[in-house]
Amino acid sequence: MRKFIDLHLHLDGSVPVATIKKLISEHHYPIPSDEKLRQELSVDSNCKSLDQFLEKFALPNKLMQTRHDIKTIVYDLLVELKEQGLVYAEIRFAPQLHTKKRLTQENVIKAAIEGLNQFLIDQKQENSNQPELHAGLILCLMRFANNQKENMETVELAKKFLNHGVVGLDLAGAEGPIPNIKYKQFFDRAQELGIPYTIHAGEAAGPDSIRQALEMGAKRIGHGIRCTEDKKLTQELIDRQIILECCATSNMNTKAFDQIDSYPIKKLLHKGMKVTLNSDDMTVSNTNLPREYKLLEEKTNLTSEEETTLYLNAVDAAFTSPDEKIRLR
Ligand code: HPA
Ligand code: ZN
Repeated sequence: MRKFIDLHLHLDGSVPVATIKKLISEHHYPIPSDEKLRQELSVDSNCKSLDQFLEKFALPNKLMQTRHDIKTIVYDLLVELKEQGLVYAEIRFAPQLHTKKRLTQENVIKAAIEGLNQFLIDQKQENSNQPELHAGLILCLMRFANNQKENMETVELAKKFLNHGVVGLDLAGAEGPIPNIKYKQFFDRAQELGIPYTIHAGEAAGPDSIRQALEMGAKRIGHGIRCTEDKKLTQELIDRQIILECCATSNMNTKAFDQIDSYPIKKLLHKGMKVTLNSDDMTVSNTNLPREYKLLEEKTNLTSEEETTLYLNAVDAAFTSPDEKIRLR
């Protein structure tokens, strides 16, 4: 079986539909038809922007407010990822989005770690010769206007749980009027605490947002695909061997990029850029990582050698230990 690594995968955008149905039923909410559920959870060709894309997170976020639901979602997602052939995944979520009922950010993180640990225990007991799936959690800070306190709490909690399930931090959410650089203080603190991080940039916002992420010390950029609009920046990313976490279907959905046939991953790879291929939001985009590879094989003639390079770039970029990297190689 082919091996895959996903470094950019949002928990709330990737909840398996069967799990959503199970949780709706457990909560005794009205069960929508399959058609209605699909419309609520996934974008269609009418999606015109990141803002419209992010509207699809409303239902999963409504469900992800109890320890049981978060644990269940992490567990079920990992089962699905293993079936797809993943051997390593970094799963990201924003603890502050899941505190609408009684949970604290710390409870949210503990629930996700419980789901991860339960999966690892059950996997050990399986008698299978398929390679194991290991995973780490990335905690997202949110690009909201008045959440400094919540963002700083997420940073401190990342330190508390670092190497106990959590592997790093991210900055996510709509790329509205507040530029990335306004969140620099949180990543300065992350640096002080020795927490690795990635930052979403160059998706809805252009090259400038990537420059800001670099100024904030990011070694990995979520998406970053719009660097292609700026030759000098592209060269800087290559020279510094910055990792791009590319997500092709998601970029088509949000219109960060509009032509899959000219999706530039191959071009960037051949220029020497450290690109990786990831799924972003499986349920929202109705995709998964094997499908993303297949799409680029069909539309851009991505070869198996190029796929191996993408895989090895992901091994290099993973927020994980040298021993785990040896296992993955
Ligand atoms: N960008 C920013 N925030 C997000 C995304 C994205 O692509 N997906 C889920 N949250
Ligand atoms: Zn993302």
